[in-house]
Amino acid sequence: MEFLTIDQEKCNKDGLCVMACPTKVIQMETSKSMPEPTEDFKEYCLECGHCAAVCPTGALSLDWLKNEQCPPYRRELAVAEPQVEQLLRSRRSIRNYNSKPVEREKLAKLLEIACCAPSAKNNQPWNWIVVGDPAETRRMAGMVIEWMRTCIEQNPEQAELRGFPRVVATWDAGEERICRGAPHIIVVHGEKDSGFGAEDCATALSYIELFAPAIGLGTCWGGYFTSAVNFYPPLFGALGLHAHHKAFGAVMVGYPKFKYQRLPVRRSPRVRYL
Ligand SMILES: Cc1cc2nc3c(=O)[nH]c(=O)nc-3n(C[C@H](O)[C@H](O)[C@H](O)COP(=O)(O)O)c2cc1C
Repeated sequence: MEFLTIDQEKCNKDGLCVMACPTKVIQMETSKSMPEPTEDFKEYCLECGHCAAVCPTGALSLDWLKNEQCPPYRRELAVAEPQVEQLLRSRRSIRNYNSKPVEREKLAKLLEIACCAPSAKNNQPWNWIVVGDPAETRRMAGMVIEWMRTCIEQNPEQAELRGFPRVVATWDAGEERICRGAPHIIVVHGEKDSGFGAEDCATALSYIELFAPAIGLGTCWGGYFTSAVNFYPPLFGALGLHAHHKAFGAVMVGYPKFKYQRLPVRRSPRVRYL
């Protein structure tokens, strides 16, 4: 099987696939020849699919991406600036959830969308753990509290700076501020020393956050949870992470208890235009 196949009848030789390829592993000898892979195609192709996506005639397919697996961009579904702006401005961290668990298909959809995020060299370094059982989410929140208690004991100053005593006190008073009563938590993890693992995984989580309201869900980053996964071996073990992995982030997921009605403003950008 060829890495790259051109349907000679469909190809209009516009050279768009050559221009769009980020690593320049597609070439056309002359403006009249068919595009073809360079010798080092296999070595340098990022599998980003730009070549197939940019082709207006659907002439190009890759060994891993057939034309029919590549749905067309539907102009009728494009959203205009006001909708996009409202979507971005209205995203909120949700900290009050219904106890109703989220359907497995919706959780899977969140991950499918997360995997559309950009990543350095299209590495897609993310791995996912979805805590599907609300009781398990709550148990793990308790493990974060155990970790906080240990930190308070071992390094009270640092723990104070991170606000742990207050979170533990509210837990003891019956309020759960780790997963905020969300039925699920999604953890993203990858190789500890992956170059841009943190950036790639954070971006993927942002895709989840932005998409979630479209299917009725709310999310909130679990910063305490993420730290505890990486610094408290019992929680690391409970999630079944490999020793060479680390958590790059976690988000709580569930059905929000209420709707927000307004869009609070942020501080203006601190910027220097050069
Ligand atoms: C890396 C990161 C970690 C966070 N950790 C927590 C957390 O542990 N608990 C929590 O309630 N909110 C957490 N948040 C949510 C922030 O507090 C929230 O984004 C911020 O207050 C702004 O509110 P908004 O997201 O509703 O606009 C975190 C956000 C980020 C980006």
